[in-house]
Parts: sequence; structure tokens; C-alpha cells
Amino acid sequence: MTPLEKTDPAIFELINKEKDRQQNRLELIASENFASAAVMEAQGSVLTNKYAEGYPGKRYYGGCLNVDSVEELARRRAAELFGADHANVQPHSGTQANMAVFFTVMKPGETYLGMDLRHGGHLSMGHPKNFSGKIYQVVPYSVRRDTHRIDYDEVLKLARRHRPTMIIAGASAYPRAIDFEAFAQISGEVNAMLMADVAHIAGLIVAGIHPSPVPHADFITTTTHKTLRGPRGGIVLCRKEFAAQLDSCVFPGMQGGPLMHVIAAKAVALAEAAGPEFRAYQKRTLKNAHILAEALLEEGFSLVSGGTDNHLILVDLTDKGLSGAEAQELLERAGITVNKNSIPFDPLPPGRASGIRLGTPALTTRSMGPDEMRLIAKLISTVLTNGRDEKIIARTQEEVSEMCRRFPLYEATELTSNRR
Ligand SMILES: Cc1ncc(COP(=O)(O)O)c(C=O)c1O
Repeated sequence: MTPLEKTDPAIFELINKEKDRQQNRLELIASENFASAAVMEAQGSVLTNKYAEGYPGKRYYGGCLNVDSVEELARRRAAELFGADHANVQPHSGTQANMAVFFTVMKPGETYLGMDLRHGGHLSMGHPKNFSGKIYQVVPYSVRRDTHRIDYDEVLKLARRHRPTMIIAGASAYPRAIDFEAFAQISGEVNAMLMADVAHIAGLIVAGIHPSPVPHADFITTTTHKTLRGPRGGIVLCRKEFAAQLDSCVFPGMQGGPLMHVIAAKAVALAEAAGPEFRAYQKRTLKNAHILAEALLEEGFSLVSGGTDNHLILVDLTDKGLSGAEAQELLERAGITVNKNSIPFDPLPPGRASGIRLGTPALTTRSMGPDEMRLIAKLISTVLTNGRDEKIIARTQEEVSEMCRRFPLYEATELTSNRR
């Protein structure tokens, strides 16, 4: 019996059920991934016991010698990996990372430009119930109706009209490359700060297969758990001149003690991301996304923007007579995990939505490749065409299980090294 099994059998059982779920289903949520055994070891370590309010060399508690070194390593690795001047690795999540930049750059009530949530923006870019929509004035920009690509002319027009303090370049559901240079030209013209939120595409950027916002953006935020394949958390990068102000906005501005166990796990993930294997992994993620997109097109699906430049695909279901919510549920029953997602100019409310979002980072981590992507497109098509037929659902479940068996994820408590 493990200590957890003895102390809390209910949680022990739920963790094991979740492990089974991850192992036996096809994970196509674009924002998820499987962190390595090394990352999870660091995150489950004794560092969780240490209070370390402050920053390396300037803590409010004693006994911080080791965690100072951990945070120094994490900061240095983050800055080096992205080629930035300064990194703050303390934000507990991507939303906290964004909040840190808002607090650094803007006073309450000031105006910023962010991607419309219905066109791919994240809730920390102006949702009315989020701090970003409550404390600040958001001016949303959108994608073009004909191409589904960011309308840079509109961004420029809005910037000239509203003279925002900050412009955010970044999205949660945008399948095309983001032109950070174009954003920098616009923000330069109106004297606004530029923040790039690369939460989704960070892994592609450090692998050199998506344009980098460095040196165009003043601030760069990212999550560490999506394509970057680390622990759940956030990081902010910035130019030297903003470092002290940013650090003070994170602590004591909006957080107390940092999660040192998570910061250690971020450091491990950043070291992994600096290696050649990681670059190869990102290339496979991208290739898998292209192949999945092509195969879905061949199956007769419409894709927002007609395809993808990155790790994610937005499927437009309007001509299939299904909402995104219905498709998500049918696929879930067949063992395929996706999320419903609004598409640009969606006639349905976000709770139902007209699309689903698919991503390849997690399946690529478990070594699936082109053959599996083509098969998955077929399975998705079969389920969404005949999903009310229980026999079809059962047969698909079997095929999914068989695929998952061929690509084992966890053996005992460790991630397998089955990473081609
Ligand atoms: C573009 C973008 N920014 C920020 C976040 C926020 O991350 P978190 O859920 O860690 O707060 C997300 C998460 O999906 C995201 O897609």
C-alpha cells in the first residue's frame, strides 16, 4: 500500500481512475499535454513544504538557500530559451501571468486591444467576468470573415481610434501563425505597449517553427503546460527596463509565496525544451496537425481558415447539423476527448458553439504519428455522422482502446520512454 492509499483511499482511487482515463482515451484537447516523469517528480517533491515569499537573495523567510538556486535556474533557463532579457517564473497560471502584465502596464480604467473571445481570444483578454474585463476597457479585434485570419487593418484602425495603453497579440483558438512584427508596427505607431501571450504556441516558438515575439514584444506571457509540456503554471518574460516593476507586480502585487515545487518542475521542463529531442517533438506535433487537418478535409469537414499553421484545428460543424457541445459529447462517449469551441461569427452561444477544437500535442507526446492521425479523422467522421448508433459508438471505443494499447502512456507510476 502506498502512503496515499493508506491515508486517503478515495483520492488514491480517483487519481488511478484519472490515470486510466488518460491512458485509454485519445486526448485531443489542444491545451493539454503529458508532462514527463522528471517534471512530475520535481512537482511532487519536498519543495512543496517551503515558504519563499520574495525573490532569490531577497526572501522574507530563512532557509531559502536551495529554493533560491532552483528559482535562479528556472529564471535563467526561461530567459535563455526564449532569448529574453528577464523572466519571472512565479505566476501560478497563465491568467496570473497576464494579470501581472496588466498590473505592470496599466492603471485601472485604461484601454487595451485584445482578440475577441468569440474569434479565438482567451478569457483573460476581456471577458466581462474576468479581471481583464472588469478593471480595464477592452477593445476587441477580430478575424476577417473571408480568410478567418487576424484583420491587421482593423487592429491598426482600432489602435488609431482608441489609442490603447497596451495591445495583446495571442489567442486560445487561432489555427494560424501570428504576425508579431505586424503587431509591433501597430503598437509602435500608437505608442502602446505590446504583450504577446504565447500560451498555446510556446513550444513551437522555442523549437523555431513559429515566429517568435522576441524582440517585437515588450512583454511575453506563457503557460508552461500546453505545447511547452511542463507543469501547470505561468511565466512572464520582459525587457530589462520593466523587470523590477514586473517582479513587484507579481510579488507582493498579486501573489504571496511562490509554489517552489512547481517552479522546480518548470525548470525541468525548460531544460527539456532546450534539447534536440524537444525540437523534433514539436516538428512532429506540427506535422500531425497538418495531416489531421488534411484528413478531416478529405472526410468532408470544413475547417476555420481552411487548415492550420500550428498545433490546433478548429472544425466548423455548421453544415453537419450538430453543435460543438453535441459533437463533444458524442466523441466523449466513443473515447475521443475534444472541446466545443466557438468559431468566428458563430450564430450559437459559447455554451453550445458551432465548432470543436482539436490539437495534436498530447497524442504526439505518446508517439502517435501520421497513420494514427488519418485513422482518428476517420473515427471522428464516423462518430459525427452516425453517432446516435450505439453499435458505431461501441466499435469506435474498441478501436480507440486498441490504439491506446499500442501507445502506452504510463507504466507503473512512470511515463514510458516511448517517445519516437
Ligand atoms: C492564450 C491563453 N492565455 C492564457 C491562458 C490561461 O492559462 P491558465 O488556464 O493557466 O490560467 C490560456 C489557457 O487556456 C490561453 O489559451
